[in-house]
Formats: sequence, structure tokens, C-alpha cells
Amino acid sequence: PNGTIEIPVIVHVIYRTNQQNISNAQIRSQIDVLNRDFSATNSDVSNVPSEFRSRVANANFRFTLKQVTRKRSSRSSWGTNDRMKFASGGGVNAIDTRRNLNIWVCNIGGGILGYAQFPGGRTATDGVVISPQYFGTQGFVSSPFDRGRTATHEVGHWLNLRHIWGDGNCNRDDRVADTPVSNGPNYGCPRYPTVRCGSNDMTMNYMDYVDDRCMYMFTNGQKNRMRALFSPGGPRETLL
Ligand code: ARG
Ligand code: ZN
Ligand code: CA
Repeated sequence: PNGTIEIPVIVHVIYRTNQQNISNAQIRSQIDVLNRDFSATNSDVSNVPSEFRSRVANANFRFTLKQVTRKRSSRSSWGTNDRMKFASGGGVNAIDTRRNLNIWVCNIGGGILGYAQFPGGRTATDGVVISPQYFGTQGFVSSPFDRGRTATHEVGHWLNLRHIWGDGNCNRDDRVADTPVSNGPNYGCPRYPTVRCGSNDMTMNYMDYVDDRCMYMFTNGQKNRMRALFSPGGPRETLL
């Protein structure tokens, strides 16, 4: 499709402590980041090195906050087994995943910032999960993951993007032609250039593992891969 793709978002806050019961302002700050990052209107896009500048994409998605649910729980960490997505597991059921992006905000634990389900999976568990201290830019947030980029990264997975290093060794296995090959993730805030596999890594891509302030772009190839999900018969067409 051409033009802006609108994604209605439902946020489920599942908390044990008052801090984890994040404010509506914190939730809105996250929606704002998604809207900036998926339209290349984030201010730090100007840091992209000239080598990569022509590949920067306005993916042209718009996220609208449709509903927030809140639930108290005695569970201190939830892990990654999707229990938070079911009332029967003490969590909150997804709301119409064919029409909405569901985001569960709960303490995952184990140092995990967030995780996502790729398109084509089980509808009951479709969506992304993010720990509260890595969600949004204000309130209960924790540096260096306090700029809302965990959700940008996880929504990238939800829209079929793989890690930029392709989880492989100098192969083109992220299935995106305009992201350079690499042999592993980058962390922290790497200097440019970072050379791997004979080319400069695109460490500033949202699908790497760097700190929030050091990731600020999707590529045209990634944009095409995300938007292809919304073509006729595609697995996310039902959101249109
Ligand atoms: N799934 C990744 C993790 O939990 C998310 C990485 C997000 N990176 C970031 N800078 N926010 O480790
Ligand atoms: Zn990831
Ligand atoms: Ca690639």
C-alpha cells in the first residue's frame, strides 16, 4: 500500500509495584517515539553517517493509542513464555490482534528488555512485551534504555524485521539487501566506522543491540519488508 499505515495500539499494564503501574503520560511518550521513529522524524536521524544517509526510510506508519488496560498481580517477573497474555495465567487477554497491536508492559526479568512475536504466529499471543522501565521516555525509565527504542525494535520484529546481523555469520540472512552484512550484534554506543565482514556495520539501525541513544534509523529495504505485510493476502492486511 501507499501512504500512511495506521496501527491502533492497545497497552496492557500488568504491575506488582506502584512504579510498574506506569502513567498514561509515560505510555503516551512511547507512542510519540514510535510515531517519530517510524516516520524518520526523530531528531537524531541527523547523526546517520553520510555513507548510509540515502538508505534512511520514512516507513510511514502512524500509531494511535486506542485503549489502556491495567491489572495488579503478585507476580514479580513474567519471563518469556507468554503467560502475561492470558487471564488464565494471571495476565490479560489480547484484544482483537487482527485489528490491533497489543503491547503488554510487565516485568519480564532476567535482564530482558522486551520480546516480540513475528507475523504469522498464533493470534492469541500476537504482539510485543516490554518491561516497564524500558517503555517510553519519562516516569519509571532506566538509562541507557530510556528513549523508547526497545518498543521500536520489538515492533520492528512484529513487522517481520530480523536482527540486522541476521543472527548469522557475514551472510545476507536478515533478508534485507541494503543493510550491510555483519557477524554479530553491537552493544553500547559504537564508534563509526565499526568494520566487520569487510564493510562498515550499520550500528545505528534499530534492529541492532546498541543503546537507545545510538540507534536512529530503518532502511528502505526494511521499510519495504514491513509494508509488504499489508499487501493483499499479507499476514497483517487485517489491520488496515
Ligand atoms: N530483545 C532485545 C533484548 O531484550 C531488545 C533490544 C532493544 N535494544 C534497545 N536499545 N532498546 O535484549
Ligand atoms: Zn530483537
Ligand atoms: Ca542485509
